[in-house]
Amino acid sequence: IGKNVVYEQSVSSTQEIAHRIASDGAEEGTVIVADEQLGGKGRLGRPWFSPIGSGIWMSLILKPKIPPQQAPQLTLLTAVAVIRGIKEQTGLHCDIKWPNDILLNGKKLVGILTEMQADPDQIHSVIIGIGINVNQDFFPEEIKEIATSLKIEKGEEINRASVMQSIMVQFEQLYELFLDEGFLPIKHMWEAHAITIGRRITARTITNSIQGYAKGITDDGVLLLEDDLGTIHKI
Ligand code: BTN
Repeated sequence: IGKNVVYEQSVSSTQEIAHRIASDGAEEGTVIVADEQLGGKGRLGRPWFSPIGSGIWMSLILKPKIPPQQAPQLTLLTAVAVIRGIKEQTGLHCDIKWPNDILLNGKKLVGILTEMQADPDQIHSVIIGIGINVNQDFFPEEIKEIATSLKIEKGEEINRASVMQSIMVQFEQLYELFLDEGFLPIKHMWEAHAITIGRRITARTITNSIQGYAKGITDDGVLLLEDDLGTIHKI
């Protein structure tokens, strides 16, 4: 992971570049990183604020030989790798909010966006986008109550390259474990950081939202949500 790094100063979105070069044959483990994104993409079609020089805006190309239904497990794996990398570099302890938000002191620090190019029975590539707020001192009005950065929480400037490097090392270890032993060991690590389980939550997709009680995740990494009528939904 990260042996091939494509660095750009300013891009629309590292996800777009990753998709393009993945279908042109880029190797597994290739990382695209930019100082600034002018069209950073969040989940559910939202924009992702990616100002110049203050965050880690990166996309990782994977080509795992796993069934397409298992790709979401890689999102959970990524969350664990990011939390470990951040802990190693800063000593800060983050929490995971299902499925892919990383929070620090209750505010959003990291977003993860997993996208896949696949046929029904075969993955061509999985593109994992990771956005980490590192050295921002403030955020735009719309998100200032809900977002934070490592610098705000730690009270000092943080070296972006070191954080990125630690995350890559952690990712590689977890990814090898995942390919050798499957999702179960990763699931246990994920659960140790997750604050969602046992709480009342709202699960949103682009078209729908379901409220209920988060009962746990399955061994496949699917969230079990019990609604008020007692029906269990797999999210
Ligand atoms: C979220 O909505 O929480 C996911 C945010 C993902 C942002 C990252 S930044 C690097 C990569 N490129 C993008 O355009 N988005 C992801």
